Amino acid sequence: MSEEKFDLQEEHQQFVVPLEGWRRTHMCGDLGRDDCGKDVCLMGWVQTRRDHGGVIFVDLRDRGGITQVVFSPEIEPQAHENAHILRSEYVLAVKGAVRMRPEGMDNPNMATGAIEVVVREWKLLNTSKTPPFMIDDRAEINENARLTYRYLDMRRPRMAENFVLRHKAMQSVRRYMDSLDFLEIETPILTKATPEGARDYLVPSRVNQGMFYALPQSPQVFKQILMVAGMDRYFQIARCFRDEDLRADRQPEFTQVDIELSFADENMIITMAEGLLAALLRDTLGVEIPLPMRRMTYDQAMADYGVDKPDLRFDLKLKDVTDIVRGSEFKLFATAPLVKAMRVPGGESLSRKEIDEFTEYVKIYGAKGLAWIKIRPDEWQSPIAKFLSETERKGLTEALGLEAGDIVFFQAGEPSMVNAALGNFRVHLAGRMGLVPEGRYEFLWVTDFPLFEYDEEEKRYVACHHPFTSPAVGHMEKMTSDPASCKARAYDVVLNGYEVGGGSIRNHSASVQRRMFEALGFKEEEYLAKFGHLIRALEYGAPPHGGIALGLDRLVMLLAGAPNIRDVIAFPKNQKAVCLLMDAPSDVSPKQLRELGIRIREDVLAEKKEEL
Ligand code: AMO
Ligand code: AMP
Repeated sequence: MSEEKFDLQEEHQQFVVPLEGWRRTHMCGDLGRDDCGKDVCLMGWVQTRRDHGGVIFVDLRDRGGITQVVFSPEIEPQAHENAHILRSEYVLAVKGAVRMRPEGMDNPNMATGAIEVVVREWKLLNTSKTPPFMIDDRAEINENARLTYRYLDMRRPRMAENFVLRHKAMQSVRRYMDSLDFLEIETPILTKATPEGARDYLVPSRVNQGMFYALPQSPQVFKQILMVAGMDRYFQIARCFRDEDLRADRQPEFTQVDIELSFADENMIITMAEGLLAALLRDTLGVEIPLPMRRMTYDQAMADYGVDKPDLRFDLKLKDVTDIVRGSEFKLFATAPLVKAMRVPGGESLSRKEIDEFTEYVKIYGAKGLAWIKIRPDEWQSPIAKFLSETERKGLTEALGLEAGDIVFFQAGEPSMVNAALGNFRVHLAGRMGLVPEGRYEFLWVTDFPLFEYDEEEKRYVACHHPFTSPAVGHMEKMTSDPASCKARAYDVVLNGYEVGGGSIRNHSASVQRRMFEALGFKEEEYLAKFGHLIRALEYGAPPHGGIALGLDRLVMLLAGAPNIRDVIAFPKNQKAVCLLMDAPSDVSPKQLRELGIRIREDVLAEKKEEL
């Protein structure tokens, strides 16, 4: 086995020296042609060391980039002497002169690829174990390893860029909100349950044994109370906690740009938020987005796209064809409550294998299958073509504008299933067919949401946004008589098919707020126990108010082009809500439990033992 295979870092520790007055002059991404001849001092990590028969090249990396530094036995023999000890991720400080790379040796793929630094003097500031993965954007790294060694993962240039972008976004928010006289006010983390529809994270109280704080799902109640307190315009970059199933765009702990304004209506809030989003894109990416943004009602979005957060970067619309196929010989179409179709131009070339994969995909959303027709110049090719009459063919051709080369997909069944299956399939298909343009930012406001939605599990209506949302003007009476058709003064902002924000005008009248709780099926003592603090505050001259919260992590994820929200959160949780870096959650001592008045159930302890 060669010497290289051993971790020499312990042995190399003897070469480590203190910083002692050395000062960095540049970051590793800063240097270019104009710096040639300058004497510089750089500090960073060894990306790679290459021995070229005498000359040693090191790529030195810091948060800002990479510079090639050269240890030359001819030019600086003393500096070259021990440079062979350098290994990946050793921490290094170098002093030397910037020069142009020799003819033909420049690297156009590197920001600093035209120059190099000839090392005159250097210090080893620390050694490193061999990292468990390559610190490189191109490496495919198992995510558990990335999260366990997050400090190494974050050294990768792409990740470092994400956090620069996130920082810029946060500074942009603060500048913009400050310019409009919003006050940044913090609200408690140890608090009482707030209803955003997820499970609460609870924290046991030692001083009040048997009682629990809840971590806020959002600062919703506090920000409304700040309006009653006359703060007029509030914002906060706020941590929120929701114990819910995790997905690529969800974390149990996430950040909102939380905003509330007094004396405001929907249009004021939407205009303010548009300005904020425009500033944010300008300050982070230098992209100008056209304002005002598009708007669409919830009903329209569901009809045309099947989801309340349509991705408008590509066309493809859904069409209700129930009436056209009402009398069909294809029994499924004849009897289903809703039949929707999606015409896909150019889709005729999709293979059977691809269509089979799509059929599996829609099953996630409860579909039993996926009917399709390929429109050929001379025939309709489809397992269901034989069932379709001339009239039905004519009706479909006209309604969908069918042309040779198209494929049409159908979904038939209950409206919620049909919309979910086709709406999500639309996005899946666009991705597969390469219909999604890069570098486009399609914002959309979705307005006129329902006030309530029916919860199948709880067998009752729940608030679609949250219970502090005001019913639409004139819809107050319908709150109890016809909850399903009652609309809300609520709006969401969507970017490229992701919900990046949502808000509403609130019930600032205590009596309307009471009626809302009653419509949700709460008894007075129930809602007073939970939200008496808010009702009481509303009774003391609450101004009309409303607001919005933007999902900062989601926004940054989309602006960074990151595939996952975890890539823009420094220390995220994995799919099981575990922080692999810290190993949280973890056991606590029996003493701590005693102080809290908590005992872990025997069966839970037994189960834990079994897992170990
Ligand atoms: P809402 O619940 O719609 O509204 O949340 C606002 C925005 O926060 C983001 N978001 C999340 N991001 C990451 N992980 C999560 N688990 C997560 N949950 C939500 C989304 C969402 O649009 N108090 C109200 C706002 C208001 O009415 O003013 C609220 O929290 O981008
Ligand atoms: P079957 O009669 O079950 O062979 O189905 C005929 C075609 O209808 C197949 O292509 C199925 O994938 C499709 N199909 C089954 N259920 C649905 C549905 N709910 N909506 C649309 N197409 C369906």
